[in-house]
Amino acid sequence: MPLNAIILAAGEGTRMKSSRAKVLHEMLGKPLVWWPVNAARQAGAERIVVVVGNDADDVRAVFADDPDVMCVEQTERLGTGHAVRVARDALGEFAGPTVVLYGDTPLMRPETITALVDETRAHHNACTVLTMLPPDPTGYGRIKRDAKGQVTAIVEHKDCTPAEQAEIRECNSGIYCFCGGRLTANIDKIGNDNAQGEYYLTDMVGIYREMGEPVSAIACDDYSELLGVNSRIELASATRIMQQRINTRLMAEGVSMLDPTLVWVGPEVKVGPDTELLPMTMLWGTTSIGSGCVVGPNSRLTDTRVADGCTVDETVAIEAELEEGVSCGPRAYLRPGTHMLEGSKAGTHVEIKKSTIGRGSKVPHLSYIGDTLMGEGVNIGAGSITCNYDGINKHPTVIGDGVFIGSDTMMVAPVRIGDGAVVGAASCITRDVPAGALGVERSEQRTVEGFAEQHRQKLLERKRAKDQQRGSM
Ligand code: UD1
Ligand code: CA
Repeated sequence: MPLNAIILAAGEGTRMKSSRAKVLHEMLGKPLVWWPVNAARQAGAERIVVVVGNDADDVRAVFADDPDVMCVEQTERLGTGHAVRVARDALGEFAGPTVVLYGDTPLMRPETITALVDETRAHHNACTVLTMLPPDPTGYGRIKRDAKGQVTAIVEHKDCTPAEQAEIRECNSGIYCFCGGRLTANIDKIGNDNAQGEYYLTDMVGIYREMGEPVSAIACDDYSELLGVNSRIELASATRIMQQRINTRLMAEGVSMLDPTLVWVGPEVKVGPDTELLPMTMLWGTTSIGSGCVVGPNSRLTDTRVADGCTVDETVAIEAELEEGVSCGPRAYLRPGTHMLEGSKAGTHVEIKKSTIGRGSKVPHLSYIGDTLMGEGVNIGAGSITCNYDGINKHPTVIGDGVFIGSDTMMVAPVRIGDGAVVGAASCITRDVPAGALGVERSEQRTVEGFAEQHRQKLLERKRAKDQQRGSM
């Protein structure tokens, strides 16, 4: 039977002090609610229902391209039992093991979910509860067991007697695996006659026990997996834990880090062995880095592909592709559609957008290259710019193989510079330059012999006259 997951994410999150829903706040480049969905999927979940409250449309947008994820709106927040009922109503009948996770608990590991599912399958449980021993149990539901140690019920903190509140340390994590069929059939039995007047999902445990359905619990040893995010302070703590997990895995796989606390890598990023990530580097989205690269310091790469042996020093890159042996930075800005072919270079203070830089071509200093197709072995002199925008439309520049562009050249697009052509420094090129030709646009230089000394004398005389005038006043 395929695995289902229900993610409860209708909480208001007032402690975030935010206009956005809590579960949309990001941890390492992904919304909080993405994390439990991803963990469920890695554990094998095929159908995932996210129960959302305010900002339903924004949460839906996160999973817009994901056919396995369905978002259902819980318009009234009547408790965790009610939230699961809303999911059930949306799904209709469902069978197969069904895990319940929280949208604000992003550190849950897929392995823990799998252990919960395995336990449910092995004992044909109606419900398996994931329990925990938090340092302070205040506020959590407590696990009640009978003389034989069997779980009999979960009682919310507020519904416990003072003695139970003090004595029972074992708590409900809020994560469960249910048998889908039995959950569908019995969830309507939950009432709201309790201290908070809510429909408690936790009541299912007592209900099943009375029905004689098998229920058990397994413990989660790593309490950090169950950390809920309710404030920005907790968001930062959770981020630090996930950062450490990801960086530890990468280092084990052969990636070097001068300081792993100063490198942030998103969960879908790939980094090859013998690559070094230097401080203040952030790798987001679907970025992939090959082997033998040096990335950073101060580099931020989003949805960018970097092949083997590249140097990416102080670079911001978004949706860019770097082939083998490319070097960029310090201080390069590679915008969407930048494709740097083997061994090419984007040097210091260089911005490139929607352009192909041919094999071995170099844009070493202070340039803007946009909407350009550049051939192989080109050299772009310092301070050269493609003027691709006329204020209304963007226009292309084509630069052939082996072209030499002198420093401070403006290439006013649309314009073509043929193979092997040379452009003289400081030219404003508005017309095509044929292959092998020289294009130069520059007024003639004038030389006045002896001018400098005459000029200096003139200035000194003027100064003396002024000083005398001031003295006689
Ligand atoms: C719940 C458990 C408690 C457990 C604790 C662990 C119940 C009744 N209690 O308590 O035993 O120790 O989690 O953290 O389940 N949610 C909805 N819709 C609702 C209500 C809640 O989507 O109508 C979501 C919230 O966004 C949150 C999660 O469910 O992510 C937990 O809800 P919350 O009300 O905070 O439950 P707790 O009081 O923490
Ligand atoms: Ca809670």
